[in-house]
Amino acid sequence: MRIEDPKIVAALPELSVELRRASSLAELTSLAIGGATDLLRIRDHESIPGLLSLLDYHGVPHRFLGGGSNLLVGDGELPWIVLQLASPDADVVLEGNFAQVDAAADLGRMVTYCAKHDLGGMEGLIGVPGTVGGALRMNAGAYGMQIGSYVREVKVYRAATRRIEILRGEQISFEYRHTSFAPDDMMLAVKLELPSKPYKEILQGIRICNEKRRSSQPLGQKSAGCIFKNPPGASAGRMIDELGLKGLSVGDARVSDRHANFFVNAGKASAKDMLALISNVRERVRSAFSVELEHEVVIWNA
Ligand code: EPU
Repeated sequence: MRIEDPKIVAALPELSVELRRASSLAELTSLAIGGATDLLRIRDHESIPGLLSLLDYHGVPHRFLGGGSNLLVGDGELPWIVLQLASPDADVVLEGNFAQVDAAADLGRMVTYCAKHDLGGMEGLIGVPGTVGGALRMNAGAYGMQIGSYVREVKVYRAATRRIEILRGEQISFEYRHTSFAPDDMMLAVKLELPSKPYKEILQGIRICNEKRRSSQPLGQKSAGCIFKNPPGASAGRMIDELGLKGLSVGDARVSDRHANFFVNAGKASAKDMLALISNVRERVRSAFSVELEHEVVIWNA
């Protein structure tokens, strides 16, 4: 979608918002799939309420993009524009056991930065790509931990009140790959409370998680991590594997040979290919196990 209204375009510099015309979402997502649309890069949190009022007033549909690592975007010209936070210079500020982190910060970099300052707890997240904001919204987790356990405060733009609010950790519910944030809430920053641990010990934990991940996940390939959530008490990857579906393809969309719950873009896969592969696998799991798999990956398809 192209922002046509000159009033909006003229107001953007004052709001510290950069307009990037016809940005390819394939270039902004780890799956490397997705069509094009105008992208607004936001440099100042405080300008968000004004920007969103302007977009709503002019009826411009929009979506918030984090690091694009857990996202499958539709093909062709997209019917909404995309908003994304630009990273500030200092995105992690430490004070005692607290880390104040900008939502645009890279998750892995934040984990290592805290580790170097003897703050641990998040070793499991080390190989998870994406931003801190995205991890927060999805309550990202791995190897027995989840980011929600460490959240003490979140600065969020709430679409319902049209204001920036600070929520305390207890006001938010963090469940398995799900939080109580509304879909149109925009994560801005988070305050984490992390346990003190010597760097060497944290590093050891990080090495173990890295090793496990390297041996079980297709890290060098274009993917969005796990496609389906694990059903209670079961593993989606194991079920898909048991059905012999590793390597199953639709066009260049392919079930990974390494981990059956990772679907990779082995070349020039389209969203159509990937969606067809997802429903094909879902259907087979349904008929073999009578289990309805739920998407773990976020899908923006129209
Ligand atoms: N398995 C197979 N075949 C496969 C994949 C897995 O038999 O192709 C078996 C494994 O041998 C193991 C079991 O299934 O016995 C579970 O596999 P794994 O340890 O890889 O964990 P997972 O349940 O498939 C979850 C998360 C991952 C996270 C890992 C490590 C979900 C949907 N997935 O995977 O998160 O990295 O645990 O904690 O919760 C993601 O969220 O995108 C993601 C990759």
